[in-house]
Amino acid sequence: MAEEVVVVIREYNPKTDDERVEQVESSCEVGPNGELSLFTDLLGDPICRVRNSPAYLMLVAEMVNKGGDGKEEKKEIVGMIRGCIKTVTCGTKFSRTKFGDSHKQLPVFTKLAYILGLRVSPFRRRMGIGLKLVHRMEEWFGNNGAEYSYIATDDANEPSVSLFTGKCGYTKFRNPSVLVHPVFAHRLTVSNRVTIVKLTPPDAEKLYRGCFSTTEFFPRDIDSVLNNHLNLGTFLALPKGYIWAGSDKFLSDPPENWAVMSVWNCNDVFKLEVKGASKLRKGFAKTTRVLDRAFPFLRLPSLPKVFSPFGLHMLYGLGGSGPLYTRYAKFLFGFAHNLAKECKCGVIATELSSEDPLKLAIPHWKVLSFTDLWCIKRLGEDYSDGSVGDWRKSQPGLSIFVDPREF
Ligand SMILES: CC(C)(COP(=O)(O)OP(=O)(O)OC[C@H]1O[C@@H](n2cnc3c(N)ncnc32)[C@H](O)[C@@H]1OP(=O)(O)O)[C@@H](O)C(=O)NCCC(=O)NCCS
Repeated sequence: MAEEVVVVIREYNPKTDDERVEQVESSCEVGPNGELSLFTDLLGDPICRVRNSPAYLMLVAEMVNKGGDGKEEKKEIVGMIRGCIKTVTCGTKFSRTKFGDSHKQLPVFTKLAYILGLRVSPFRRRMGIGLKLVHRMEEWFGNNGAEYSYIATDDANEPSVSLFTGKCGYTKFRNPSVLVHPVFAHRLTVSNRVTIVKLTPPDAEKLYRGCFSTTEFFPRDIDSVLNNHLNLGTFLALPKGYIWAGSDKFLSDPPENWAVMSVWNCNDVFKLEVKGASKLRKGFAKTTRVLDRAFPFLRLPSLPKVFSPFGLHMLYGLGGSGPLYTRYAKFLFGFAHNLAKECKCGVIATELSSEDPLKLAIPHWKVLSFTDLWCIKRLGEDYSDGSVGDWRKSQPGLSIFVDPREF
C-alpha cells in the first residue's frame, strides 16, 4: 500500500500540543518578510491571545503520515489558528419617543467573530493548510451564531491578504493606524495643568457606556474588559482643580475639556522581538539606551530594546471632549509612558481609526508604527440587515473601539 499523507484539523490540546505548537509559532514571522521580521513569544501559553474573550477556540492542523501498511507513522503539527466571538456595536439608530420623533442615538449590536494567530509552518505552505484552518474556524463561528468575521493583518503581508481577500471571501474594511512609541529610560513630564484621576471599574464602565457605546467595535461586555486582571486602569484627565465625584455627576455635568484612556498589560501575555538586524543597528540602539540611562536629565530619545524579547502596554478607549481634549490626551500619554517604564516595557502602542483626530496628537515613532488592514466577511447571507444594513458597506466613523483582548 502506498504511503498516505492527510492533514487533520482538530481542537488544540494543551496537555499534548504545547511544545509542538510553540515550535511552529517561533518559526513563523508575522507581517511581511523583509530584512527585519517581527516574531512573537507567547510565553508558553499558545491560547493567551484569545482566552480573555467570552467564547474562543484554538485549532491545530496536524499532518498525519500513514505508512504503507496503513499504520500511523508520524504526526506533525504544521499550523494553528485562534478565533473568538463577542458582541460589538456595528452601527447606530435613533430611539423614538412615543410621538415618533427621533431622540437619542443608540448602538446596534452584532455578534462578531475574530480570527487571529493564523500560522502555517514555513516548510508546509501553499498546500491549502491555511485555507483549511480558516474554513474550520468559520464553521465554528457560524455554529455559534456569529454574523460577521474579521481579521487584522499588515497591508504588506501578501500571503495573508491574498488568502483572506481571495479564497476566503473577505473584503477590505478599515485601515486603523497602530501608533508605537518607545519607552525611554527617562520619565516624561506630565503637565500640572491637568488633574489625572484613576477610575474604579464601575465608574469607568459607566463613562464608556455613556460616551462610547455607539462607537464602532465597542464591546458590549466592556465590564469584563475593565475588570480583567490585565487591565491596569482607566485614567481621566480633567482641568486642574476639578473635584471628581463619580461618573454619574461627571456625565450629567462634564467639564469643558476632558480625556480618557485605559491601559492594558500585554507585557505579561506575550513578548515581541525584531529579528534580522545587523550588528551595527543593534549596537546603535544599545548606545542610545546606555546614554539615556546614564544621563536621564538630558531626556535623550533612546531606541527601545526591540532586538531582544520586549513587552508592551496597549492604550485603548482613548477619547474625550472639548477644544483642548487632544492636548489632554497627550498628557495622559505621558502618564502612560511613565507607567510602562515602571513595568519595564519596551514600547507603548495604541490603535486608532484612520479618521481619528487623536492620530496627530498621540506621540509615536513613524519607524515603529504602521497601518493595519482589517478585512471582514458576512458569515450568513440569510442574516437580516436590520436597522444598520450591511455593515461591510458602511462608512468608517471618526473613531473605532479597539478591544485590547485582541491586540
Ligand atoms: C498566511 C499563511 C497562514 C498562509 O498559509 P498557507 O497554508 O500557505 O496558505 P494556503 O496554502 O492555504 O493558501 C491558500 C491561498 O492563499 C493565497 N496565498 C497563500 N500564500 C500566498 C503567497 N505567499 N503569495 C500569494 N498568495 C498566497 C493563495 O491564493 C493560495 O491559494 P493557491 O495556493 O491555490 O494559489 C502563511 O503564509 C503564514 O503562516 N504566514 C506567516 C504568519 C502570518 O502572516 N499569518 C497571517 C496573519 S493574519
